[in-house]
Amino acid sequence: MIDESGSALPANGVPAEQVLAEIRSLREADRPTHGGRLFAYVYDPAVAGLDELTAAAYAESAHVNGLDPTAFPSLLAMENALVGAAARVLGGGPGTSAPEVVGSVTSGGTESLILAVKAARDARPEITAARIVVPSSAHAAFAKAAHYLRVALDTVPVDPATLRPSVADVAAAIGPETVLVVCSAPSYAHGVVDPVAEIAETAAAAGVRCHVDACFGGWTLPYLRRLGVDVPAFDFAVAGVTSISVDLHKYAYAPKGVSVLLHRDAGLRAPQYFAYADWPGYTMVNPVISSTRSGGPIAAAYATLRHLGDDGYLELARRTRDAVRVLADAVRGVDGLRLVAEPESTVVCLTSTDPALDLFVLVDELTARGWHTQPQLAYAGLPRSVHLTVTAAVAPRVAEFGPALAEAAVAARAAGPVVLPPELLALAGSLTPQALTPELVAGLAEGLGLAGRAGPPDRMAVVNTLLDAAPVRLRERLLVEFVGLLQRPTW
Ligand SMILES: Cc1ncc(COP(=O)(O)O)c(C=O)c1O
Repeated sequence: MIDESGSALPANGVPAEQVLAEIRSLREADRPTHGGRLFAYVYDPAVAGLDELTAAAYAESAHVNGLDPTAFPSLLAMENALVGAAARVLGGGPGTSAPEVVGSVTSGGTESLILAVKAARDARPEITAARIVVPSSAHAAFAKAAHYLRVALDTVPVDPATLRPSVADVAAAIGPETVLVVCSAPSYAHGVVDPVAEIAETAAAAGVRCHVDACFGGWTLPYLRRLGVDVPAFDFAVAGVTSISVDLHKYAYAPKGVSVLLHRDAGLRAPQYFAYADWPGYTMVNPVISSTRSGGPIAAAYATLRHLGDDGYLELARRTRDAVRVLADAVRGVDGLRLVAEPESTVVCLTSTDPALDLFVLVDELTARGWHTQPQLAYAGLPRSVHLTVTAAVAPRVAEFGPALAEAAVAARAAGPVVLPPELLALAGSLTPQALTPELVAGLAEGLGLAGRAGPPDRMAVVNTLLDAAPVRLRERLLVEFVGLLQRPTW
Protein backbone atom coordinates (compact mmCIF):
# COMPACT_ATOMS: atom_id res chain seq x y z
CA MET A 1 0.00 0.00 0.00
CA ILE A 2 1.51 3.31 -1.05
CA ASP A 3 1.16 6.16 1.46
CA GLU A 4 0.36 9.20 -0.66
CA SER A 5 0.89 11.81 2.07
CA GLY A 6 4.64 12.22 1.66
CA SER A 7 5.05 10.83 -1.84
CA ALA A 8 7.21 12.88 -4.17
CA LEU A 9 4.98 11.67 -6.99
CA PRO A 10 1.36 11.83 -5.85
CA ALA A 11 -1.32 10.57 -8.22
CA ASN A 12 -2.66 14.10 -8.50
CA GLY A 13 -0.58 17.25 -8.27
CA VAL A 14 -0.70 19.18 -5.00
CA PRO A 15 -1.34 22.97 -4.91
CA ALA A 16 1.79 25.14 -4.62
CA GLU A 17 0.93 26.61 -1.21
CA GLN A 18 0.38 23.16 0.23
CA VAL A 19 3.69 21.89 -1.13
CA LEU A 20 5.52 24.80 0.45
CA ALA A 21 3.72 24.21 3.75
CA GLU A 22 4.84 20.57 3.62
CA ILE A 23 8.46 21.56 3.06
CA ARG A 24 8.29 24.04 5.93
CA SER A 25 6.87 21.37 8.16
CA LEU A 26 9.68 18.96 7.19
CA ARG A 27 12.19 21.71 7.91
CA GLU A 28 10.97 21.95 11.51
CA ALA A 29 13.00 18.82 12.34
CA ASP A 30 16.21 20.46 11.09
CA ARG A 31 18.88 22.18 13.12
CA PRO A 32 18.27 25.94 13.16
CA THR A 33 20.13 27.52 10.21
CA HIS A 34 19.65 31.00 11.64
CA GLY A 35 19.90 32.43 15.13
CA GLY A 36 23.59 31.91 15.91
CA ARG A 37 23.29 28.66 17.87
CA LEU A 38 24.55 26.21 15.24
CA PHE A 39 28.34 25.80 15.12
CA ALA A 40 28.71 23.59 12.05
CA TYR A 41 27.33 23.00 8.55
CA VAL A 42 25.85 26.47 8.14
CA TYR A 43 27.47 29.88 7.72
CA ASP A 44 25.17 32.73 8.67
CA PRO A 45 26.16 36.39 8.58
CA ALA A 46 22.79 37.45 10.09
CA VAL A 47 22.47 40.31 7.61
CA ALA A 48 18.87 41.42 7.20
CA GLY A 49 17.54 41.04 3.66
CA LEU A 50 20.39 38.84 2.40
CA ASP A 51 18.29 35.67 2.25
CA GLU A 52 15.62 37.41 0.19
CA LEU A 53 18.23 38.83 -2.17
CA THR A 54 20.00 35.51 -2.71
CA ALA A 55 16.71 33.63 -3.15
CA ALA A 56 15.69 36.09 -5.86
CA ALA A 57 19.10 35.94 -7.54
CA TYR A 58 19.03 32.14 -7.38
CA ALA A 59 15.57 31.99 -8.95
CA GLU A 60 16.68 34.38 -11.71
CA SER A 61 19.40 31.96 -12.88
CA ALA A 62 18.22 28.55 -11.61
CA HIS A 63 17.40 27.27 -15.10
CA VAL A 64 20.46 28.71 -16.78
CA ASN A 65 22.96 26.00 -17.73
CA GLY A 66 26.68 26.46 -17.22
CA LEU A 67 27.33 23.66 -19.69
CA ASP A 68 27.92 26.11 -22.49
CA PRO A 69 29.30 29.55 -21.60
CA THR A 70 28.61 30.85 -25.12
CA ALA A 71 24.88 30.14 -24.76
CA PHE A 72 24.62 31.84 -21.38
CA PRO A 73 27.15 34.67 -21.19
CA SER A 74 25.46 35.94 -18.01
CA LEU A 75 26.85 32.97 -16.14
CA LEU A 76 30.32 33.35 -17.62
CA ALA A 77 30.35 37.00 -16.60
CA MET A 78 29.32 36.23 -13.01
CA GLU A 79 31.73 33.29 -12.76
CA ASN A 80 34.64 35.39 -14.00
CA ALA A 81 33.72 38.13 -11.51
CA LEU A 82 33.66 35.61 -8.63
CA VAL A 83 37.04 34.21 -9.65
CA GLY A 84 38.48 37.73 -9.89
CA ALA A 85 37.15 38.62 -6.44
CA ALA A 86 38.52 35.42 -4.89
CA ALA A 87 41.90 35.99 -6.54
CA ARG A 88 42.07 39.54 -5.17
CA VAL A 89 41.14 38.41 -1.66
CA LEU A 90 43.88 35.76 -1.87
CA GLY A 91 46.81 37.83 -3.05
CA GLY A 92 46.44 37.51 -6.82
CA GLY A 93 45.43 39.74 -9.72
CA PRO A 94 46.76 42.99 -11.21
CA GLY A 95 49.51 44.66 -9.23
CA THR A 96 50.39 41.55 -7.23
CA SER A 97 53.13 38.95 -7.57
CA ALA A 98 50.53 36.63 -9.11
CA PRO A 99 48.95 38.75 -11.86
CA GLU A 100 48.00 35.79 -14.08
CA VAL A 101 45.74 33.95 -11.62
CA VAL A 102 42.82 32.10 -13.25
CA GLY A 103 40.18 29.85 -11.81
CA SER A 104 36.85 28.07 -11.96
CA VAL A 105 33.70 28.04 -9.90
CA THR A 106 32.90 24.56 -8.56
CA SER A 107 30.03 23.15 -6.54
CA GLY A 108 31.95 23.02 -3.27
CA GLY A 109 35.20 22.43 -1.48
CA THR A 110 35.33 18.73 -2.25
CA GLU A 111 34.98 19.34 -5.99
CA SER A 112 37.68 22.03 -5.85
CA LEU A 113 40.07 19.66 -4.09
CA ILE A 114 39.35 16.74 -6.42
CA LEU A 115 40.10 19.03 -9.36
CA ALA A 116 43.31 20.36 -7.78
CA VAL A 117 44.49 16.76 -7.42
CA LYS A 118 43.36 15.89 -10.95
CA ALA A 119 45.18 18.88 -12.44
CA ALA A 120 48.35 17.94 -10.56
CA ARG A 121 48.09 14.28 -11.56
CA ASP A 122 47.38 14.97 -15.23
CA ALA A 123 50.17 17.54 -15.45
CA ARG A 124 52.61 14.66 -14.89
CA PRO A 125 51.48 11.91 -17.31
CA GLU A 126 54.92 10.30 -17.14
CA ILE A 127 54.24 9.32 -13.51
CA THR A 128 52.21 6.14 -13.58
CA ALA A 129 51.55 5.86 -9.84
CA ALA A 130 51.05 9.44 -8.69
CA ARG A 131 51.13 10.35 -4.98
CA ILE A 132 50.12 13.39 -2.92
CA VAL A 133 51.53 14.53 0.41
CA VAL A 134 48.96 15.74 2.96
CA PRO A 135 49.17 16.61 6.65
CA SER A 136 46.93 14.32 8.73
CA SER A 137 44.87 17.42 9.58
CA ALA A 138 44.03 18.05 5.90
CA HIS A 139 40.37 17.74 4.99
CA ALA A 140 39.03 14.24 4.28
CA ALA A 141 38.19 15.39 0.76
CA PHE A 142 41.85 14.85 -0.22
CA ALA A 143 41.47 11.18 0.72
CA LYS A 144 38.31 11.12 -1.35
CA ALA A 145 40.15 12.71 -4.27
CA ALA A 146 42.96 10.18 -3.94
CA HIS A 147 40.41 7.37 -3.85
CA TYR A 148 38.44 8.60 -6.84
CA LEU A 149 41.52 9.42 -8.91
CA ARG A 150 43.61 6.40 -7.88
CA VAL A 151 46.36 8.55 -6.46
CA ALA A 152 48.24 7.39 -3.35
CA LEU A 153 48.01 9.43 -0.17
CA ASP A 154 51.17 10.04 1.88
CA THR A 155 49.98 11.35 5.23
CA VAL A 156 52.31 13.39 7.42
CA PRO A 157 51.39 13.48 11.13
CA VAL A 158 50.69 16.74 12.92
CA ASP A 159 52.38 17.67 16.16
CA PRO A 160 49.88 17.09 19.01
CA ALA A 161 50.80 20.45 20.55
CA THR A 162 50.93 22.75 17.51
CA LEU A 163 48.51 20.66 15.37
CA ARG A 164 50.75 21.42 12.39
CA PRO A 165 52.99 19.12 10.34
CA SER A 166 56.73 19.60 10.57
CA VAL A 167 58.29 20.93 7.38
CA ALA A 168 61.04 18.31 7.64
CA ASP A 169 58.42 15.53 7.68
CA VAL A 170 56.73 17.03 4.62
CA ALA A 171 60.09 17.26 2.83
CA ALA A 172 60.87 13.65 3.72
CA ALA A 173 57.51 12.48 2.38
CA ILE A 174 58.07 14.03 -1.06
CA GLY A 175 59.33 11.46 -3.54
CA PRO A 176 59.82 11.13 -7.31
CA GLU A 177 56.14 10.22 -7.76
CA THR A 178 54.75 13.10 -5.71
CA VAL A 179 52.58 15.39 -7.86
CA LEU A 180 51.10 17.62 -5.15
CA VAL A 181 51.84 18.84 -1.63
CA VAL A 182 48.93 20.12 0.42
CA CYS A 183 48.52 22.53 3.29
CA SER A 184 45.49 24.01 5.03
CA ALA A 185 44.77 27.64 5.81
CA PRO A 186 43.20 26.99 8.21
CA SER A 187 42.44 23.34 8.99
CA TYR A 188 38.81 22.51 9.65
CA ALA A 189 39.21 20.44 12.81
CA HIS A 190 41.29 22.91 14.84
CA GLY A 191 41.35 26.12 12.80
CA VAL A 192 45.14 26.38 12.65
CA VAL A 193 47.15 27.60 9.65
CA ASP A 194 49.90 25.26 8.42
CA PRO A 195 53.41 26.65 7.77
CA VAL A 196 52.46 27.41 4.17
CA ALA A 197 55.52 29.48 3.24
CA GLU A 198 57.96 26.78 4.32
CA ILE A 199 55.96 23.91 2.85
CA ALA A 200 55.49 25.72 -0.47
CA GLU A 201 59.21 26.46 -0.64
CA THR A 202 59.99 22.79 0.00
CA ALA A 203 57.52 21.71 -2.69
CA ALA A 204 58.88 24.24 -5.18
CA ALA A 205 62.45 23.07 -4.53
CA ALA A 206 61.30 19.54 -5.42
CA GLY A 207 59.50 20.80 -8.53
CA VAL A 208 56.10 19.82 -7.11
CA ARG A 209 52.84 21.77 -7.05
CA CYS A 210 51.57 23.10 -3.72
CA HIS A 211 47.85 23.48 -3.07
CA VAL A 212 46.57 25.62 -0.20
CA ASP A 213 43.19 24.42 1.02
CA ALA A 214 41.61 27.68 2.12
CA CYS A 215 38.12 26.26 1.54
CA PHE A 216 37.05 26.71 5.13
CA GLY A 217 38.47 29.96 6.38
CA GLY A 218 40.38 31.40 3.43
CA TRP A 219 37.85 34.14 2.94
CA THR A 220 38.17 35.38 6.54
CA LEU A 221 41.95 35.19 7.08
CA PRO A 222 42.76 38.26 4.95
CA TYR A 223 40.08 40.27 6.76
CA LEU A 224 41.30 39.09 10.16
CA ARG A 225 44.78 40.21 9.13
CA ARG A 226 43.42 43.65 8.25
CA LEU A 227 41.91 43.74 11.74
CA GLY A 228 45.34 43.20 13.25
CA VAL A 229 45.28 39.42 13.80
CA ASP A 230 48.69 37.83 13.22
CA VAL A 231 47.95 35.71 10.12
CA PRO A 232 50.98 34.04 8.53
CA ALA A 233 51.53 34.26 4.77
CA PHE A 234 49.36 31.61 3.11
CA ASP A 235 48.13 32.93 -0.24
CA PHE A 236 49.56 33.73 -3.70
CA ALA A 237 52.01 36.13 -2.06
CA VAL A 238 53.90 32.91 -1.24
CA ALA A 239 55.93 32.07 -4.34
CA GLY A 240 55.59 28.28 -4.30
CA VAL A 241 51.81 28.23 -3.91
CA THR A 242 50.42 26.99 -7.23
CA SER A 243 46.70 26.68 -6.43
CA ILE A 244 44.24 27.74 -3.72
CA SER A 245 40.66 26.71 -3.05
CA VAL A 246 38.15 28.89 -1.21
CA ASP A 247 34.50 28.10 -0.59
CA LEU A 248 32.12 30.97 -1.14
CA HIS A 249 29.39 28.95 0.57
CA LYS A 250 31.36 29.09 3.80
CA TYR A 251 32.76 32.43 5.00
CA ALA A 252 31.75 34.41 1.92
CA TYR A 253 28.25 33.58 3.23
CA ALA A 254 26.80 32.56 -0.15
CA PRO A 255 24.08 29.88 -0.29
CA LYS A 256 25.35 26.32 -0.74
CA GLY A 257 26.91 25.12 -3.97
CA VAL A 258 29.82 27.49 -4.69
CA SER A 259 33.57 27.21 -4.26
CA VAL A 260 36.43 28.69 -6.28
CA LEU A 261 39.56 26.85 -7.40
CA LEU A 262 42.35 29.25 -8.34
CA HIS A 263 45.61 28.48 -10.17
CA ARG A 264 48.58 30.78 -10.34
CA ASP A 265 48.41 30.75 -14.16
CA ALA A 266 46.49 29.23 -17.05
CA GLY A 267 49.20 26.65 -17.74
CA LEU A 268 48.74 25.17 -14.29
CA ARG A 269 44.97 25.06 -14.80
CA ALA A 270 45.01 23.43 -18.24
CA PRO A 271 45.07 19.79 -17.07
CA GLN A 272 42.00 20.45 -14.94
CA TYR A 273 39.80 20.61 -18.07
CA PHE A 274 38.10 17.68 -19.75
CA ALA A 275 37.18 17.93 -23.41
CA TYR A 276 35.64 15.27 -25.62
CA ALA A 277 34.74 15.40 -29.29
CA ASP A 278 34.83 11.68 -30.10
CA TRP A 279 31.08 11.04 -30.14
CA PRO A 280 28.19 12.15 -32.32
CA GLY A 281 26.67 14.63 -29.85
CA TYR A 282 27.81 18.13 -28.91
CA THR A 283 31.52 18.53 -28.43
CA MET A 284 32.02 18.81 -24.72
CA VAL A 285 34.43 20.88 -22.67
CA ASN A 286 34.09 20.88 -18.89
CA PRO A 287 36.32 22.90 -16.61
CA VAL A 288 34.78 21.17 -13.57
CA ILE A 289 33.29 17.78 -12.69
CA SER A 290 29.67 18.60 -13.44
CA SER A 291 28.65 19.13 -17.02
CA THR A 292 25.19 20.64 -16.68
CA ARG A 293 25.49 23.24 -13.93
CA SER A 294 22.71 25.37 -12.51
CA GLY A 295 23.29 29.10 -12.65
CA GLY A 296 21.40 29.45 -9.36
CA PRO A 297 24.28 29.07 -6.90
CA ILE A 298 26.58 31.24 -9.02
CA ALA A 299 24.05 34.07 -9.29
CA ALA A 300 23.29 33.81 -5.56
CA ALA A 301 27.00 34.00 -4.71
CA TYR A 302 27.49 36.95 -7.05
CA ALA A 303 24.58 38.74 -5.35
CA THR A 304 26.04 37.96 -1.90
CA LEU A 305 29.49 39.34 -2.70
CA ARG A 306 28.20 42.46 -4.38
CA HIS A 307 25.71 43.16 -1.62
CA LEU A 308 28.09 42.62 1.30
CA GLY A 309 31.12 44.19 -0.37
CA ASP A 310 34.65 44.45 1.00
CA ASP A 311 33.56 46.70 3.87
CA GLY A 312 30.77 44.28 4.76
CA TYR A 313 33.17 41.35 4.99
CA LEU A 314 35.55 43.36 7.15
CA GLU A 315 32.73 44.13 9.57
CA LEU A 316 31.54 40.49 9.59
CA ALA A 317 35.10 39.33 10.32
CA ARG A 318 35.30 41.81 13.19
CA ARG A 319 32.07 40.47 14.72
CA THR A 320 33.27 36.90 14.26
CA ARG A 321 36.66 37.63 15.84
CA ASP A 322 34.96 39.24 18.85
CA ALA A 323 32.59 36.27 19.18
CA VAL A 324 35.52 33.83 19.04
CA ARG A 325 37.20 35.66 21.92
CA VAL A 326 34.08 35.47 24.10
CA LEU A 327 33.55 31.78 23.30
CA ALA A 328 37.20 30.96 24.05
CA ASP A 329 36.88 32.75 27.40
CA ALA A 330 33.74 30.76 28.13
CA VAL A 331 35.72 27.52 27.62
CA ARG A 332 38.57 28.78 29.80
CA GLY A 333 35.99 29.53 32.49
CA VAL A 334 34.77 25.95 32.88
CA ASP A 335 36.75 23.62 35.13
CA GLY A 336 37.68 20.43 33.32
CA LEU A 337 37.62 21.95 29.82
CA ARG A 338 40.51 23.37 27.82
CA LEU A 339 41.07 24.78 24.36
CA VAL A 340 42.80 22.33 22.03
CA ALA A 341 44.47 25.28 20.32
CA GLU A 342 44.48 29.00 20.97
CA PRO A 343 42.00 30.30 18.38
CA GLU A 344 43.82 31.96 15.49
CA SER A 345 40.96 32.00 13.01
CA THR A 346 37.24 31.31 13.41
CA VAL A 347 37.28 27.93 15.15
CA VAL A 348 36.97 27.21 18.82
CA CYS A 349 37.99 23.63 19.61
CA LEU A 350 37.81 22.29 23.13
CA THR A 351 38.51 19.10 24.98
CA SER A 352 37.99 17.67 28.45
CA THR A 353 40.75 17.29 31.01
CA ASP A 354 38.47 15.57 33.52
CA PRO A 355 37.43 11.92 33.02
CA ALA A 356 34.18 12.71 34.87
CA LEU A 357 33.26 15.26 32.19
CA ASP A 358 32.42 13.25 29.07
CA LEU A 359 32.65 15.49 25.99
CA PHE A 360 30.07 13.50 24.05
CA VAL A 361 27.59 13.86 26.91
CA LEU A 362 28.46 17.56 27.06
CA VAL A 363 27.60 17.90 23.36
CA ASP A 364 24.20 16.27 23.99
CA GLU A 365 23.59 18.55 26.98
CA LEU A 366 24.41 21.60 24.84
CA THR A 367 22.07 20.32 22.14
CA ALA A 368 19.32 19.91 24.71
CA ARG A 369 19.85 23.61 25.55
CA GLY A 370 19.62 24.65 21.90
CA TRP A 371 23.36 24.95 21.15
CA HIS A 372 24.52 22.69 18.34
CA THR A 373 28.22 21.83 18.38
CA GLN A 374 30.20 19.16 16.56
CA PRO A 375 31.91 16.24 18.31
CA GLN A 376 35.25 15.07 16.86
CA LEU A 377 36.55 11.58 17.64
CA ALA A 378 39.96 10.90 19.17
CA TYR A 379 42.50 10.38 16.41
CA ALA A 380 46.17 9.44 16.22
CA GLY A 381 47.17 10.77 19.63
CA LEU A 382 44.81 13.75 19.46
CA PRO A 383 42.06 13.74 22.08
CA ARG A 384 38.36 13.69 21.30
CA SER A 385 37.17 17.26 20.98
CA VAL A 386 34.26 19.56 20.31
CA HIS A 387 34.41 21.83 17.26
CA LEU A 388 32.70 25.20 16.96
CA THR A 389 32.65 26.93 13.58
CA VAL A 390 32.01 30.52 14.59
CA THR A 391 30.14 32.82 12.22
CA ALA A 392 29.03 36.42 12.48
CA ALA A 393 25.51 35.32 13.47
CA VAL A 394 26.88 34.09 16.80
CA ALA A 395 27.87 37.61 17.86
CA PRO A 396 24.49 38.76 19.22
CA ARG A 397 24.03 35.50 21.19
CA VAL A 398 27.55 35.01 22.37
CA ALA A 399 27.07 36.20 25.96
CA GLU A 400 24.49 33.43 26.48
CA PHE A 401 26.95 30.69 25.56
CA GLY A 402 29.15 30.82 28.67
CA PRO A 403 26.31 30.18 31.15
CA ALA A 404 24.89 27.46 28.85
CA LEU A 405 28.28 25.75 28.64
CA ALA A 406 28.75 25.89 32.42
CA GLU A 407 25.26 24.49 32.95
CA ALA A 408 25.79 21.76 30.35
CA ALA A 409 29.07 20.81 32.05
CA VAL A 410 27.30 20.45 35.41
CA ALA A 411 24.60 18.31 33.76
CA ALA A 412 27.19 16.18 31.95
CA ARG A 413 29.06 15.55 35.19
CA ALA A 414 25.83 14.64 36.93
CA ALA A 415 24.89 12.24 34.14
CA GLY A 416 28.37 10.74 34.21
CA PRO A 417 30.42 9.41 31.31
CA VAL A 418 28.96 6.94 28.83
CA VAL A 419 29.87 3.43 29.85
CA LEU A 420 29.45 0.92 27.06
CA PRO A 421 28.88 -2.72 28.02
CA PRO A 422 32.34 -4.35 28.13
CA GLU A 423 31.37 -6.89 25.46
CA LEU A 424 30.40 -4.06 23.08
CA LEU A 425 33.66 -2.24 23.78
CA ALA A 426 35.62 -5.42 23.17
CA LEU A 427 33.70 -5.94 19.93
CA ALA A 428 34.41 -2.38 18.76
CA GLY A 429 38.08 -2.85 19.48
CA SER A 430 38.47 -6.24 17.82
CA LEU A 431 35.96 -6.41 14.98
CA THR A 432 37.32 -6.12 11.46
CA PRO A 433 35.25 -4.27 8.85
CA GLN A 434 35.07 -7.53 6.87
CA ALA A 435 33.49 -9.33 9.82
CA LEU A 436 30.65 -6.84 10.04
CA THR A 437 27.58 -8.76 8.88
CA PRO A 438 24.18 -7.17 8.09
CA GLU A 439 22.78 -8.97 11.16
CA LEU A 440 25.48 -7.49 13.39
CA VAL A 441 24.84 -4.00 12.01
CA ALA A 442 21.09 -4.39 12.50
CA GLY A 443 21.69 -5.57 16.08
CA LEU A 444 24.02 -2.64 16.79
CA ALA A 445 21.59 -0.13 15.27
CA GLU A 446 18.79 -1.59 17.37
CA GLY A 447 20.90 -1.41 20.53
CA LEU A 448 21.95 2.18 19.81
CA GLY A 449 18.42 3.34 19.07
CA LEU A 450 19.20 4.03 15.41
CA ALA A 451 16.82 1.51 13.91
CA GLY A 452 13.40 2.41 12.55
CA ARG A 453 13.81 6.17 12.91
CA ALA A 454 13.29 8.90 10.36
CA GLY A 455 16.52 10.60 11.49
CA PRO A 456 19.34 10.27 14.00
CA PRO A 457 18.49 10.08 17.72
CA ASP A 458 18.50 13.24 19.87
CA ARG A 459 21.28 11.90 22.05
CA MET A 460 24.35 10.73 20.19
CA ALA A 461 26.82 10.21 23.05
CA VAL A 462 26.51 6.41 23.01
CA VAL A 463 26.95 6.23 19.23
CA ASN A 464 29.94 8.58 19.39
CA THR A 465 31.49 6.56 22.22
CA LEU A 466 31.19 3.37 20.21
CA LEU A 467 32.73 5.02 17.13
CA ASP A 468 35.48 6.48 19.31
CA ALA A 469 36.34 3.02 20.59
CA ALA A 470 36.60 1.58 17.08
CA PRO A 471 39.70 1.68 14.86
CA VAL A 472 39.51 4.09 11.90
CA ARG A 473 38.54 1.52 9.22
CA LEU A 474 35.77 0.11 11.41
CA ARG A 475 34.51 3.65 12.11
CA GLU A 476 34.22 4.23 8.39
CA ARG A 477 32.40 0.98 7.81
CA LEU A 478 29.98 1.54 10.71
CA LEU A 479 29.17 5.03 9.43
CA VAL A 480 28.47 3.69 5.96
CA GLU A 481 26.18 1.04 7.39
CA PHE A 482 24.35 3.43 9.72
CA VAL A 483 23.80 6.06 7.01
CA GLY A 484 22.75 3.30 4.64
CA LEU A 485 20.03 2.43 7.14
CA LEU A 486 18.79 6.04 7.04
CA GLN A 487 18.81 6.22 3.26
CA ARG A 488 15.77 4.15 2.40
CA PRO A 489 13.27 5.19 -0.24
CA THR A 490 9.81 6.26 0.90
CA TRP A 491 7.14 5.13 -1.46
C1 LIG B 1 39.35 22.91 4.93
C2 LIG B 1 38.20 22.31 4.16
N1 LIG B 1 38.41 21.83 2.92
C3 LIG B 1 37.44 21.27 2.20
C4 LIG B 1 36.15 21.14 2.69
C5 LIG B 1 35.09 20.46 1.88
O1 LIG B 1 34.09 21.36 1.51
P1 LIG B 1 32.65 20.92 1.02
O2 LIG B 1 31.95 20.36 2.21
O3 LIG B 1 32.07 22.21 0.51
O4 LIG B 1 32.80 19.92 -0.06
C6 LIG B 1 35.88 21.65 3.97
C7 LIG B 1 34.54 21.53 4.55
O5 LIG B 1 34.31 21.79 5.70
C8 LIG B 1 36.93 22.23 4.72
O6 LIG B 1 36.73 22.69 5.97
